[in-house]
Amino acid sequence: MKKVITYGTYDLFHRGHYNLLKRARELGDYLIVGITTDSFDLERGKMNTCNNVMERIEAVKATGLADQIVIEEYRGQKIDDIQKYGVDIFAIGSDWEGYFDYLKEFCEVVYLPRTQGVSSTQLRQERPTVQIGIIGTGSIACRFVPEAENVNSANIVAAYNPNRKECKTYCDNYGIPVCADNLNVLYDNCNAVYIASPHYTHYEYAKSALEHGKHVLCETPFVFEKAQAEELFDLAEKKRLVLMVALKTAYTPAFGHLFSLLKSRVIGDIVEVNASVTTLTDESSEKLDSKRIGGSMSENACFPLLPIFKFLGVDYRSINFYSKMKNEVDMYTKAVFRFDHAIASFQVGLGVKTEGAMTIAGTRGYVYVPAPWWKTDYFEVRYEDQSQNKKYFYPFVGEGLRYEIKDFVASVLSNGSHFSKVSKVENVKMAEVQEQYIKSVNLYRI
Ligand code: CTP
Repeated sequence: MKKVITYGTYDLFHRGHYNLLKRARELGDYLIVGITTDSFDLERGKMNTCNNVMERIEAVKATGLADQIVIEEYRGQKIDDIQKYGVDIFAIGSDWEGYFDYLKEFCEVVYLPRTQGVSSTQLRQERPTVQIGIIGTGSIACRFVPEAENVNSANIVAAYNPNRKECKTYCDNYGIPVCADNLNVLYDNCNAVYIASPHYTHYEYAKSALEHGKHVLCETPFVFEKAQAEELFDLAEKKRLVLMVALKTAYTPAFGHLFSLLKSRVIGDIVEVNASVTTLTDESSEKLDSKRIGGSMSENACFPLLPIFKFLGVDYRSINFYSKMKNEVDMYTKAVFRFDHAIASFQVGLGVKTEGAMTIAGTRGYVYVPAPWWKTDYFEVRYEDQSQNKKYFYPFVGEGLRYEIKDFVASVLSNGSHFSKVSKVENVKMAEVQEQYIKSVNLYRI
């Protein structure tokens, strides 16, 4: 019996896939089809698939052409499969011509003609897209556009900056069609906005965008008052719009799995969370401008607040802040939280440098996430018995913004039914912490 194997993602199953499977089947007597898992696709940078692995398996099954389906989970698996299943022929479309010649050592390799005029990429492009307008054209907005290009259904159509010259330069650099120095022009061209303006302007812009019926993805820190955060989320709910805060760490594969592992009690009860984020910054930077709510707390605190609230909940009893000040802004702040059954602390700095790691201590073991933990692709779970320690690795592609953009777009296209990684309550609590700090509640200056 001649065994043939072929692999693919088979997203939005189309006639090109069908023809390929049929041709592969005709090469032998038994066809094995390898289908990539969602996490393997993510790992190799293909993060725009529309169908999940179960849907893709069902689509291949429905053709009746596959005698066996296997899932492809890791690089190098093809050689293992060929040996394991005693495969005679490896077949793949001609778009891969030459690429798989290394498999000739293990079986015959056949490149089959590709069907012209159809591909998953093309079908994905024909699906509904979210038309995004960018408010603010600074450094984070510069990183946003190339990241959004990796997310299908995200279409950047316009950018706004009250300074027309800056706006024009930005739009020219990134090929953005509409350059708006007036918000109404921006709103006329988009159905969602990404707010990347200075922190202290977030509330006004978010409110205006929601009032104009636009979905909002807002950069961090979101807002500086609890009541403002509540108001904006209430407004979004009332208008059935998506309001999401662009806290990129929350959307990364590593953080998502760390959350699930901790909730599955791999280190028992969590007793302490500690995380640091320090980014040494030039003293002339706007980030240290007291009139623009500059400082370490406003710039960096949202990052450690995420694991604290995610892993311990939001019901802290008290917080004490200790800040090293200069020119009326905090160059460095340590915050200590008391929960009923746990403690949390963080260090944030713009003028002081620390190790940017995170540790989560539990009754059975602890988690160590090395610096920079907020954009990690790796962490360790460690125990008293070191033979039980486990290392976990994940993809973290590019600047890492593509993960939040993907979730935002998915939320908009599913009318908000997509699960939100950071809840309204967590966002409101983050604003509450910022507000307490600004009001100097339990703040000790050094
Ligand atoms: N294929 C084909 N003809 C097409 C599209 C795909 O023969 N028009 C083949 C590919 O060469 C591969 C298999 O179908 O052997 C699975 O390809 P996959 O990458 O899943 O599909 P694409 O449509 O090429 O996906 P994408 O656009 O995401 O690259």
